[in-house]
Amino acid sequence: MADIDVFSRLFSLVQKHYAEQTDGAVIEYCAPADLRKKLDLPQATDLENYDELFGWVEKYLKYSVKTGHPQFWNRMWADPNLPAIIGEIVSTIAHTSACTYESAPVSTEMEKYLIGEFLRLAGFRDGEGQMTTGSSNGNLVAMMAARNLTLKNVKASGLSAAPTLVAFVNADAHYSMDNAANVLGIGTDNLKKIPIDEHGRMRLDALEAEIMAAKKAGNIPFFVGATAGTTVRGAYDPMDGICDLQQKCGEDFWVHIDGAWGGSIFLSEALCDAFLPGLDRVNSFTFDFHKMHGIPIVCNFLLTNGRSGLLKSTVSSGNEDYIFHGQDQEDTTDLGQSSLQCGRHADVLKLFLAWKFYGQSGFIARIERFLQKAKLAENLVLQTPELELLAPRESFNVNFRMRTPQGVCPDEFNKKVRQNLYESGTAMVGLATINNQTSIRFLIANDRVADGDVEDFFAHVVAAGKAILAESRP
Ligand SMILES: Cc1ncc(COP(=O)(O)O)c(C=O)c1O
Repeated sequence: MADIDVFSRLFSLVQKHYAEQTDGAVIEYCAPADLRKKLDLPQATDLENYDELFGWVEKYLKYSVKTGHPQFWNRMWADPNLPAIIGEIVSTIAHTSACTYESAPVSTEMEKYLIGEFLRLAGFRDGEGQMTTGSSNGNLVAMMAARNLTLKNVKASGLSAAPTLVAFVNADAHYSMDNAANVLGIGTDNLKKIPIDEHGRMRLDALEAEIMAAKKAGNIPFFVGATAGTTVRGAYDPMDGICDLQQKCGEDFWVHIDGAWGGSIFLSEALCDAFLPGLDRVNSFTFDFHKMHGIPIVCNFLLTNGRSGLLKSTVSSGNEDYIFHGQDQEDTTDLGQSSLQCGRHADVLKLFLAWKFYGQSGFIARIERFLQKAKLAENLVLQTPELELLAPRESFNVNFRMRTPQGVCPDEFNKKVRQNLYESGTAMVGLATINNQTSIRFLIANDRVADGDVEDFFAHVVAAGKAILAESRP
């Protein structure tokens, strides 16, 4: 096969896969041993043979999860959108690293343009930003900036002689905060998990008490990591209250928002006022487009407020002059200079194309559709006698379970229901724990779903549960 024919062969497969996303089962489920047998990965192959190569591609797609299926409710990401897929393909074909203007001029301009747009929409002044490899890393870099600002010499001297730093997060914060505390030498014991109220929000009285306790112990409170859309409940921390506390404490700690899941609501002024009042007062903010917005993984931004230049001074340390020559004459900062990575995938193109295609209004409309469907899901749970909510719905997440007859363990039973839906390829949905109870976590990140698909999902849950109960009856 001529190299050029590879593309038409590839695109016919890709087109077929895209068209079949909504058909049949969500996954052709195989247990790991069975899948290993079917894939036969060690098999000998003919070298440089495209027919064999496309055989592997077909196998890969055959056993992959159809994340564009209308019964895929499992994760924060789903069906990628077409403009963004075009961007992903083109950035791969153009294969370069977005570390310098020299190697990636267009992507550098696009990234700076979008950072500027998002700084403006977030109400940040004298801010800066960077695309990172996801909110886990956005949280890490934000915590690192706060650490280095607090301990001015830490980059050179390390932490061995430093006072103990203490960070504070919502008790339901994402585990990447623990990872950041680990990587940065803060220590996970010094990441204080603040108890939450009945809405899953960090309790301000408890936060203040923990900050005071840390100070009293001679430690330094340096970072409050709030969440906009917690992973399980979808709760939004009280940003204004946290910033008031920051003022009261003499602004001696950094306030960051982890908006991996629910942060992009800042694109809408009305939604931002409803969910994130006080956003413009925080020190940093990270949010993903690879979750709710159908941009292929990964696509994330970290923004800082009021401290332009801090990111570069935080991360850059060693000799970089072989790569950064100040080619970006306007401000002499190549984007890679404020990044922990050297090679940077040009993640911006896929978002830029989707941004131009759908516009800010299209992104907002998508969020509003998801909120409407989450509300529909909540109502369906409330109206279905076999189901119960495990926590009030705060935003996009609906946590529920099936009621069980006496003598049946609800946790085990609901895990079984979910597994049954998965293995049969009927639907994919997540599991979580709320108040020590197993919850089925229903999320919508797929814009192909209709109201009828939401209704079908709850009918599938009830049918699967009833079938399990019937089978277990003596
Ligand atoms: C609240 C929150 N923060 C951070 C993350 C991690 O984001 P990423 O996968 O972009 O690293 C997640 C992922 O689920 C999340 O829910």
